[in-house]
Amino acid sequence: KIKIVTIGGGSSYTPELIEGLILRQAQLPIAELWLVDIEDGAEKMEIVGSMAERMIAAAKLDWQVHLSLDRKEALKDADYVTTQFRVGLLDARLKDEVIPLANGLLGQETNGPGGIFKAFRTIPVILDIIEDMRQLCPHAWLVDFTNPAGMVTEAAIKYGKWEKTVGLCNVPFGHITQASSVLGVEEKDLYFKFAGLNHFHWHRVWDQQGNERTAELIDKIYSPDQQEKSDEGLKNIHQIPFNYDQVKHLGLLPCGYHRYYYLQEPMLAHAIEEFEQYETRAEVVKKTEARLFELYKDVNLNYKPEELSQRGGAHYSDAACDLIASIQNNSGKLMVVSTRNNGALADLPFDCVVEVTAAITSHGAEPLRWGALPPAARGMIQLMKAMEETVIEAAVSGDYGAALHAFTINPLIPAGDTAIKVLDQLLYAHKDYLPKF
Ligand code: NAD
Ligand code: G6P
Ligand code: MN
Repeated sequence: KIKIVTIGGGSSYTPELIEGLILRQAQLPIAELWLVDIEDGAEKMEIVGSMAERMIAAAKLDWQVHLSLDRKEALKDADYVTTQFRVGLLDARLKDEVIPLANGLLGQETNGPGGIFKAFRTIPVILDIIEDMRQLCPHAWLVDFTNPAGMVTEAAIKYGKWEKTVGLCNVPFGHITQASSVLGVEEKDLYFKFAGLNHFHWHRVWDQQGNERTAELIDKIYSPDQQEKSDEGLKNIHQIPFNYDQVKHLGLLPCGYHRYYYLQEPMLAHAIEEFEQYETRAEVVKKTEARLFELYKDVNLNYKPEELSQRGGAHYSDAACDLIASIQNNSGKLMVVSTRNNGALADLPFDCVVEVTAAITSHGAEPLRWGALPPAARGMIQLMKAMEETVIEAAVSGDYGAALHAFTINPLIPAGDTAIKVLDQLLYAHKDYLPKF
């Protein structure tokens, strides 16, 4: 029997997770499910926790559900710890978006200055959680969904020395579904190989007969007459089509987040327009969240409402629950996860974290070897990885020079006075959550 603990239990995504666990009840011998939050999220956790209890009761399962504001009490003897917390909640995300945008830079949850600051706020907390885990549940797996998931996972493994950490993202699911629908071939009959970093990966696709279908997908998704298919269903990313010749040149399928880099100017222009004339994503999400919690309050609601699909993280449960079930049952299932490179991507350090297709067994993720990337991708990914490493270093040390270096390396931040101004404004705006700086 297993004990699962979810940190950030008050998240509106919790019904996703519960639905996923219920669907996999045959593979998951769950005894206890603990939701943990902090005072600021207590009310949300009460509401969504009651909803979770109703879902579990409706499925006639005898899982014990506990809601707690005491992380240590919750972590005791846990087998799996999943994280879905947001330090500073959506108000902090709003600052990550608005401050860069007001200075003409991209303001986004996981990219550019905002993504760097989300890492600065989150990494100290994940390292604290790991210190508690060392005392209370030394054999537990840490399944990280908290963004920026790649950097948080790397901090947990490299600095927290928690080898049993796996990071997750739902973006690969969107691309798998897209490829299946564009080719008219069921997902189970396609074979995918992803490699890169979280929110910065490419993929290739084969069919049952072993024929590679990547080039066909590039044509069917990105050629100028096909671009209505270029929407991979990510609700939070403005879907400007990629340049067909550029994708063809690389010969790999990009992920939705590559738009911020390959289409930096139009994506920035769109973000600034939204910000000046309308609202940023954090404000949209605040409204969606408020509607969701109104629904969750309904004592008759005992299933995940459709409205949750308006959040960018839809299908998160497929990733989290498949991962737990695969570790628990030593299944060897291929999944896309953030894990230690170990040579899978020849162009990156062995000890860094990458997001790759990996076989999931009882001892964790074994990444499939990808090999070398073409120079056009290699140059960008090496820069991005060095940026991530520098962000983590700054988050751990609180070193201002390291923070400025992270900004300088980041391709979405031009070096100079504006970078320094945005860095200083964000440091001030988030000072309550940045004890190291
Ligand atoms: P949210 O704003 O609802 O926050 C979730 C909960 O975390 C809140 O109830 C909050 O009180 C709690 N929290 C904050 N600090 C905490 C702490 N120190 N300890 C415990 N709990 C704490 O966030 P959300 O929109 O539900 O997203 C949750 C997280 O999941 C975010 O980090 C988000 O970026 C991430 N996410 C990741 C993916 C992915 O692909 N990996 C997809 C969607 C969301
Ligand atoms: C995508 C990403 C997540 C991100 C989310 C944002 O699904 O994979 O990492 O957190 O979108 O969605 P939101 O609804 O919060 O804007
Ligand atoms: Mn993600």
